[in-house]
Parts: sequence; structure tokens; C-alpha cells
Amino acid sequence: MSNKVVLAYSGGLDTSVAIRWLKERYDMDVITLTVDIGNVADLEAIRQKALTTGAIKALVADAKESFVNSFVFPSLQADACYEGQYPLATALGRPLIAQLLVDTAKKEGATAVAHGCTGKGNDQVRFDVSVAALAPELKVIAPAREWNMTREQTIEYAQTHNIPVPITKTSPYSIDENLWGKSIECGVLEDPWNEPPKDVFTWTKSLEESPNEPSYLEIGFDRGIPVSLDGEKLDGVTLVQRIHKLAGAHGIGRIDHVENRLVGIKSREIYEAPAAIVLLKTHQALEDLVLSKEQLRFKAKVASEYADLIYNGLWFTGFCQDLTAYVASTQRYITGTVRVKLFKGNCQIVGRKSPYSLYDYSLATYDKGDIFDQSASPGFIHIWGLPVRTQARVQPPFRQKG
Ligand code: ARG
Repeated sequence: MSNKVVLAYSGGLDTSVAIRWLKERYDMDVITLTVDIGNVADLEAIRQKALTTGAIKALVADAKESFVNSFVFPSLQADACYEGQYPLATALGRPLIAQLLVDTAKKEGATAVAHGCTGKGNDQVRFDVSVAALAPELKVIAPAREWNMTREQTIEYAQTHNIPVPITKTSPYSIDENLWGKSIECGVLEDPWNEPPKDVFTWTKSLEESPNEPSYLEIGFDRGIPVSLDGEKLDGVTLVQRIHKLAGAHGIGRIDHVENRLVGIKSREIYEAPAAIVLLKTHQALEDLVLSKEQLRFKAKVASEYADLIYNGLWFTGFCQDLTAYVASTQRYITGTVRVKLFKGNCQIVGRKSPYSLYDYSLATYDKGDIFDQSASPGFIHIWGLPVRTQARVQPPFRQKG
């Protein structure tokens, strides 16, 4: 009896070729696992394709709920956005898929797991490191990293083995999508001077095509988790899907990012992430109302650390666990409602309120009802300016000409 391997299977070219290749190269029986974390068109068709391509068993898992609740929302609470631009959709999906691969391998008595990543990207790192953390005894095989075939050769391999080829040579994008966003690379996009052609975008309308009338939306948060739209309570998956649709129709969520991969390469990636953009923006707007200045400043540093660790495949680490606990603590009063105006690619905050707001009208107002004691300001400024005056006395301050 040959050894079994559980392959993360998307139904695409590389993982389809991998089913056959794993049998030929390692003489392993392949069990495929297709994980739905959003936007998988036809799970049953993918399952059938795995079986006709040579898998001994084809499993599917609907993991949308765990994805949103255990990966996306903690990342939203942290305001994680890699290099200030990429909301990390692909990066957040990998540790969950790795975890499901490991669980399936244990259940099926497999000795290895496999994924379709190449040796140039971040995703191989995320899979390998996550599996090693959860089940060090499992071997990880990455066929596309080993087989050294160009894209053309992979297509040829598929054709000679009667594996249906889902892409044509004229539409060579590499796409990964889930509930939190869609990542698109390859083809003409590899030249950062090329404007992305129209066919790249499937989730978001162009500005030309988006409606001439704005839409307004009220998003309710409970301790940093979005829980309602326009007053209607919704589960996480439905809420993300609804915002996705509405914001995408207004052309919100297109990102053109020249990003720094962990393996040292700069790569140009196009993202569509309408729900992520709206939720990150509204969540931060509520935090601006509720957190103190120090909490906000420190949290911004944590956000950048958190984004880096997700990007770099370090989800299953003590550091991630610790930062997650810190972030959860910061969210205890992030409850309230944010109103946004969606219009021509823009998501504009137009209102926010919270029972825990630190915004105090009677302190901020210039109108009647002002309780700020302006007579206390000179004393405050006297002390504040003390070190400045002391230094200026002995070390004349630098002056601009003119
Ligand atoms: N650059 C993104 C990341 O590292 C997306 C990777 C997957 N992209 C793709 N087009 N297949 O998270």
C-alpha cells in the first residue's frame, strides 16, 4: 500500500497537475482537500475534477465561518494592513488551510501534506511554517517548487495527461480569492508601468461605470467586531458578503501594490478588497472616537507588527498569540456605529457614535456651553515650554532664512 498525501486543491492548473505528478514522482495516493473560504464557484465540480484527475478521495470543507471569525476579524481588530495597503486576504487564509490539511492528514492516516505554491512566493512559507508548527512529523511537499516547469510546460504536461486546463495562454493571471479579498498577479501586470486591463477586475466597478448617486451605510460594531448593517444584525460571513457587493458596485477596493515579499522580491500585485477597505476604515474611525491618544499610537505600532507577522507566515507563534491578546483587550469599548458614504471609489466616513466615546462636546465646542477653562492654558504652556526656553537660552535655536 502506498503512502497517502493530502493536497490542498483549488481545481486550478498547478494543483491539478500536482495530483498526477505526486503519483508519478513519489508513488503516493493523493487525497485532495478543497477549502471554501469564500468565492469558490462550484465545489462539487472541483471535487469531481480531482477524482477524474486521479485522486483516491476528494474532500471539501466549508470554512467560511472560521475564516471570518477566527482569522479575518482578529486581523480587523488589529487594523492589520501590510505596508499600509494590502488587507492580507491570501495571507490570512493560509494558516487556516494549513490547519485543515493537518487535521485531515491525521484523520486519513497520511504521512504528508502538499500545496501548489511555487518557490518564489510567500504562500509556500506560510504553509510550510504553519504545518511544521502544528504537526512537525508531517512531510510537506510542494510539487510546483520541485518540478521546475515553466507555465507553458505545466500546460503541456496537463494536456498530455488529459487534465483540463482552466486558463488559456492569453489570459495568464494567477488569482487567489476568498471572502476578504482577491489577489491577482502575472501576465501584463508584471510590468508596473502597465495599467491593469479591464478584465483584471471582477469584484469592483470602474469609476466610469459606478453609480452617479452615492450609497450610505451604517455599520454597527460590538467590541471591535462588525455585527450589523443599517441596524440589521448579521452573522460575520453575510455581513462581509453584503459590504463586498455594495462597495464593489461603487468601485471601492482596488489596490495596486508593489510589495516587498518575504523572499526578497518586489512584486506588483493587484487586489480587490471592497469589504476589507470599508471595514478597516470604519473600524479605525470608531477607534479614533473611543481610544485615548496613547492607546491609538501604540496600537498603530502593533498593527504594523501584526500585519508583518501574518504576511510572513507566523500565525502559529507565541508572538501572534500575545499580540492577539493585546489587541482583544484594546477592543473592549469599540462598540458603536459608523456611517459611511460610498461613492466613485471612495469610502468616506460621515458619522460615528459610541456610548464610550471620548469626544466631549462641551470641551470641544467653540459655541455656547463651552466648559474648557481657557484661563488654565497660560500656566500649562508655561510649564510645557520650560525645556524649550531653557535650551534656547544656551543653544540658540536653528532659524530658517527669510
Ligand atoms: N502577494 C500576496 C501575498 O503574498 C498574494 C499572493 C497570492 N497571489 C496570487 N495571485 N496567487 O499574500
